[in-house]
Parts: sequence; C-alpha cells; structure tokens
Amino acid sequence: MSASPVVELDQVGKTYYNGAVETPVLFDVSCAIVPGEFVAIVGGSGSGKTTLLNLMGLLDRPTAGEIRIESVKVTGLDEVERARVRRDRLGFIFQFHYLLPEFTVIENALMPCRMRGREFELAQEPRMRELLAAVGLDDKLKARPAQLSGGQQQRVAVVRSLANNPAVVFADEPTGNLDSKSGRMVFDLMKRLNRDSGTAFVMVTHDDHFALEADRVIRIRDGRIQGTKGGKG
Ligand SMILES: Nc1ncnc2c1ncn2[C@@H]1O[C@H](COP(=O)(O)OP(=O)(O)OP(=O)(O)O)[C@@H](O)[C@H]1O
Ligand SMILES: [Mg+2]
Repeated sequence: MSASPVVELDQVGKTYYNGAVETPVLFDVSCAIVPGEFVAIVGGSGSGKTTLLNLMGLLDRPTAGEIRIESVKVTGLDEVERARVRRDRLGFIFQFHYLLPEFTVIENALMPCRMRGREFELAQEPRMRELLAAVGLDDKLKARPAQLSGGQQQRVAVVRSLANNPAVVFADEPTGNLDSKSGRMVFDLMKRLNRDSGTAFVMVTHDDHFALEADRVIRIRDGRIQGTKGGKG
C-alpha cells in the first residue's frame, strides 16, 4: 500500500541572497513524508535543518526544485494561495512557544482557527478542550501563559498546532528550551497525538533518544540528505 505523500521535495535547493553575498545552504534535496509518519530531522548546527523545515512548511521558498503538499505543486502558488495551504493543512511548533500573553490557554489553542471565522472556531472548541484535558491542562483552560510552567506552555503550543486538523505538523526543536523531564513529556505528547490523529510529524531534534523513537530519521550534513533510516515509507 502506498498512500500519496503529504510532502514531496524534488531536487530542492536553497541559496540565501543578502545583497552581494550568496550563501548556498541546501543542495539537491529529494524526500517524501507519507501520511501519519513521525520523522526526525537530525544534523549538526548550521547543516540546514531549519532551512529545510521552513521550505517544507511554506515559510520560505526554494531557489531550485519543486515542492508538493498533498500533490499540489506549491512552488507555483502565489503568497495568498500558499498562506491558505499553510493555514488549512499545516501546523507548526517552534522552540519558543509563541503563545499570546493576553489570551487564555483555550483561546491560544484555538488561535489558528480564528482566521477561518467565529463559527469554525466554536466548532473546534470541544476538541481543543478535550486535547488540553488529555495533556493534563484541564484546570488551566482560563489561565494566561505566564501562569504556566515552560513545559505546560509548550504542551499548549503542541495542542494549538493541531487546531486546524493539519495533514502534517512541523516542529523545530520543540524540546530545545525544556529540561529533560518536560522535554520528554512534550515529545511523548507529540507521539501520542501523531498516533491518535493520523497527522504526520516532522521534528528537528538534537536529542538522539527522541530520534531513535521516530518512525524514520533524515540526517542532513552540509545541506545534503546524508541518509534516512527506519520507517514505514
Ligand atoms: N536568512 C539567512 N541568510 C543567510 N544565511 C542564512 C540565513 N538563514 C540561515 N542561513 C545559513 O544557512 C545555514 C543553515 O542554517 P539553518 O538555520 O538551516 O541551520 P540548522 O541546521 O537549523 O542549525 P541549528 O541546529 O543551529 O539550528 C547556516 O550556515 C546559516 O548561517
Ligand atoms: Mg535550526
């Protein structure tokens, strides 16, 4: 059985241009993420992991090659269309939680739904409440982010990434700011949500233990995919 990939990169390259300075960062990257898999991206500092994730997540554009999300060639889309794909089909978790301080936990979790209208947001609320309860935050729904621990804040950010039922969540070192116990909780949460929701996860990590628990590991070295190990796909 081969479901069509949620993300496909075909000979993708990225060079940053700052004035007269050219920085080639990614070279000839081809890979695919299949529905429901949990992929870890590993590699040394400066190897191009964040650049790769930003291209997959439509936060930046490649300078060579083609990217498809759910078979749609997104390299050919304009910014408005790309923003729509990003909003409706993709979720994001970063090293910093980026919760909005003046909103409550449940409001923050629902934030990605806002742009789709009040009705849509209301319809998602029961599911978001359930997810927050499942991650041990049922008594914090009305709290502000500043009243939570770092691990709790990041758990809200993980739940928020699923607000729009995305096909794939991109996470750039989501445990990087946490102590090992909180990091483990956040990672286990991502694994559980991956299993339960069928959403694929692509996570950049420096932690070998987490990488070993992924379905598949993509290793980047000097801007090239050096190898991919394990996996369903
Ligand atoms: N906007 C930019 N302009 C120029 N060069 C950049 C830009 N962003 C990143 N780079 C360079 O691209 C290379 C890859 O950066 P990237 O952030 O993808 O690495 P990384 O693998 O995520 O590293 P880390 O593990 O430290 O987060 C680095 O050499 C970096 O200096
Ligand atoms: Mg990075």
